[in-house]
Amino acid sequence: KHKVDFYGKHQTGIITPVQTNIYFASLDVLVTSQKELQQLFQQWTPLMVRLMNGEQMVEMTTNTRVPPGDTGEAKGLDAAHLSLTIGAGPSLFDKLGMQHVKPAELKDLPHFPKDQLQQEWTGGDLCIQACADDPQVAFHAVRNLVRAASGKVAIKWSQAGFNAFPAEGGTPRNLFAFKDGTVNPAITDEQDLHKTVWVDKGWLKNGSYLIARKIQMHLETWDRTSLKDQEATFGRYRDSGAPLGKENEFDDFDIEAKDDKGDYIIPDTSHVHLARKSDARMLRRSYSYASGVLSNTGAHDAGLLFISFQKDPAQFIAVQNSLGRMDKMNEYITHRGSAVFACFPGVQKGSYVGEALF
Ligand code: HEM
Repeated sequence: KHKVDFYGKHQTGIITPVQTNIYFASLDVLVTSQKELQQLFQQWTPLMVRLMNGEQMVEMTTNTRVPPGDTGEAKGLDAAHLSLTIGAGPSLFDKLGMQHVKPAELKDLPHFPKDQLQQEWTGGDLCIQACADDPQVAFHAVRNLVRAASGKVAIKWSQAGFNAFPAEGGTPRNLFAFKDGTVNPAITDEQDLHKTVWVDKGWLKNGSYLIARKIQMHLETWDRTSLKDQEATFGRYRDSGAPLGKENEFDDFDIEAKDDKGDYIIPDTSHVHLARKSDARMLRRSYSYASGVLSNTGAHDAGLLFISFQKDPAQFIAVQNSLGRMDKMNEYITHRGSAVFACFPGVQKGSYVGEALF
């Protein structure tokens, strides 16, 4: 079976190689005390281990008079590199009277100029990010963890997503057909990850802040846009993923470089120009979604479940502010949902997820 090891310094699903599928759930807690929250994490931990090993939640149920202990749809399926990442949102600490352990960095994101957030896609007390190379394995994991915690948590919102990897390997393309994830810290570069992704102080040490943004992509408008404008939107070529003026996807580029006419080669309204202009960096780990059509317009309800990990949400805020109103991509996207979670450090054998919090 293709297993990801549950135990380690960091939780899985952050520097785990990106899988093809995600099922992301944002939860409300129904428990009312810190003690009950701790019990929930103690209950979840061995179940997470089983799920990631590709095992059923319980050995076979033989008693036909009770509902089976496992919902069953992952029976016989591979572990499919399932990773599970648990995080706590700002509201959790307020609800359970745990302000004394709430990290100062953990607050709702500020309102950004073009945001059109809907409550139904925003916030949450806890998150479960389940990623796997099989959509049913990811869904099964969330379904069963939530079921096991019936009466203790309820799903507030959830989103399924996907990535598709080219046969010859390499960066997946988003629904605008551009390679997405080219400029990212290498998941093997400990030093860079330490600088960019891992929290290095307090109980959250070796954890990371997850930011999720549900971003609708207006595919109909995009599909009416010339290739030249599409490439000017990102500052990269669609086909190769190379920066404009360069040959290959991973070629380095200077956003200040100008052509003979004095124009920026990577336009100063392009997504890449503006994202890089802020010096802040992050690990992006996003998935596309397609959830039918919008009943009011008939347009695709599709886009990007943008997910980034950073040692401080301020990094995301700096980049988003730099994109601001200038980003040419704004013509083609609308931010619909937003959440921030402090993802716990990894779990050692004999311990449980989130232990550092108690
Ligand atoms: C780069 C797409 C939203 C931050 C890129 C690239 C693409 C892309 C195609 C170039 C290839 C790469 O380096 O991965 C999108 C789409 C979005 C979106 C389709 C929304 C639907 C965001 C948001 C942020 C962000 C919300 C953060 C606030 C970045 C960063 C880079 C990047 C930091 C790398 C810039 C560099 O070259 O240094 N994005 N992006 N993106 N994007 Fe986005």
